[in-house]
Amino acid sequence: MPNAARYARLFAVLVASPLLMAPLAHAAEPVRAPGAMVVCASREAAQIGADIMRQGGNAFDAAAAIGFALAVTWPEAGNIGGGGLMLAVKAGGDVVTLDFREKAPLLADRDMFLDTSGNVVEGLSLRSALASGVPGSVDGLLMLWRDHGSGTIEWQQILVPAIQLAQDGFPLSEELAASFNERQDKFAKDPGASKIFIRADGRPWAAGDRFHQRDLAQTLQRIARDGRDGFYAGDTADLIVQQQAATGGRISYEDLRGYSSIYRPAVTGEFRGHTIVSMGPPSSGGVLVVQMLNMLGEFPVESMTPGSAAYVHLLTEVQRRAFADRAEHLGDSDFWDVPVARLTSTTYAHERVADIALDRATPSTQVRAGAAAAESPNTTHYSVVDPKGNAVAVTVTLNASFGSGIVIDGAGFLMNNEMDDFSVKPGVPNLYGVTGGDANAIEPGKRMLSSMTPTIVLKDGQPYLIAGSPGGATIITTVLQVILNITLHGMNIQDAVNAPRHHSQWFPDSILAEPGAIGDDARTELERMGHAFAEPRKIGAANCILIDNGTRLGAPDPRRQSAAVGF
Ligand code: DON
Repeated sequence: MPNAARYARLFAVLVASPLLMAPLAHAAEPVRAPGAMVVCASREAAQIGADIMRQGGNAFDAAAAIGFALAVTWPEAGNIGGGGLMLAVKAGGDVVTLDFREKAPLLADRDMFLDTSGNVVEGLSLRSALASGVPGSVDGLLMLWRDHGSGTIEWQQILVPAIQLAQDGFPLSEELAASFNERQDKFAKDPGASKIFIRADGRPWAAGDRFHQRDLAQTLQRIARDGRDGFYAGDTADLIVQQQAATGGRISYEDLRGYSSIYRPAVTGEFRGHTIVSMGPPSSGGVLVVQMLNMLGEFPVESMTPGSAAYVHLLTEVQRRAFADRAEHLGDSDFWDVPVARLTSTTYAHERVADIALDRATPSTQVRAGAAAAESPNTTHYSVVDPKGNAVAVTVTLNASFGSGIVIDGAGFLMNNEMDDFSVKPGVPNLYGVTGGDANAIEPGKRMLSSMTPTIVLKDGQPYLIAGSPGGATIITTVLQVILNITLHGMNIQDAVNAPRHHSQWFPDSILAEPGAIGDDARTELERMGHAFAEPRKIGAANCILIDNGTRLGAPDPRRQSAAVGF
């Protein structure tokens, strides 16, 4: 039976039953501005981005300045010791995607996180000097400014606001103070982190405490003065390499000198009159979002209500299949032949949904211990648009919250623990419970697979929605649901961001749902179909912008600290 017909039959049954969730009680309002807008995790950083654009800078200048500001004001994910991905649609239509993802050091090897019996050494890929990939953020932010900036903003202007915040300090928000306090044990294990994140007087951090990072200010000064060499050579490189050597890490001068960001082809797709432009490998995000939209496009999905059993079931079945493909096919395309064209084709989607049963869950047949996130993970996404219409989406990460928890002592910044995003052993889940095999095995100089999904949706060829999120594997399904809420369900952008989400990913074979995402009756019906549920928790933090007939609508995600500043 054709998919649409099969679906229509089931839908008729489900609509007739009281399974559908109540619609959102009232519309939440985004922040409006006629020209420029920044939405990110920190008000200080958002203000810095807006100020750069007021001074005549464009969205790329702003994105570079916000990136450095977040390294100071949002240290759990904003970084110079990590990496990120950027996707932009320029005024005029050119698409740019920059990969400044971390790389495995040249001395990395496939089994570096295994003991002599071939078992994974617990924690080694997350909390050790070996956990870090070669950082890409400084190179990436520099390239954004140099290659796409307005030409009117000096490099020093990009760095100065961040240097001031690090040097003079800034008052901690309640969320940041709480986040520091929750991780005192993690910081206590590292001398450099202890100096910065544990108060000298031993009392817990409180909202309003002024937080200084003087070593970081010095490092940012070197970057302001020497550009790339302020990080990848000279004093900063000495501090990184010496500490790595002394603590069992493998990052060398050669790794730092040789790091460079790469422009990648974007992944594109069409969905119900919109064009999706997203990030390709080494991200899995764009491929999966386009693949899932194509699969959903096989069904009359616009007639379904978010939160209903039918909708959650269909999304779960689609997500299960996409994540199974991720584990098999996705990795750094410089090292692995990723079949992007096939995975994102509508023919493939048509074949892939053929075995979706509409009245029961397909079990994710292979049973494996699900890896619950042992640490609260963190990444951060920001969206920027300037008065000319350049639209920029950037997601940056240290992987876990505060990365490996290891600070390069004397340089004042946290190192990532991104090596855990590789498949450290085939079939062994990473921090986010996702597995992989050869496609994402560790190789020297290779980039670890990411779920980061900076995405821009075009309507009538113009940037319409700028989206992205943190959340490990849930990034991909968060971006998917924001797109669906806008393109199918007629929500305004703030409601589209706020609406409760659900997520599944092949393994663990369960649906993770935020409170309110699925009504009680729908949940009972889904359980009857064979779906299991994970412990609920918050999913993602999608800091999005919608451009509606020229007006910029900033939608900070209320799940986490966030701010929208426009003019
Ligand atoms: O690149 C990735 O897929 C992960 N390192 C992202 C980590 C993340 O999103 C954590 N955020 N909450």
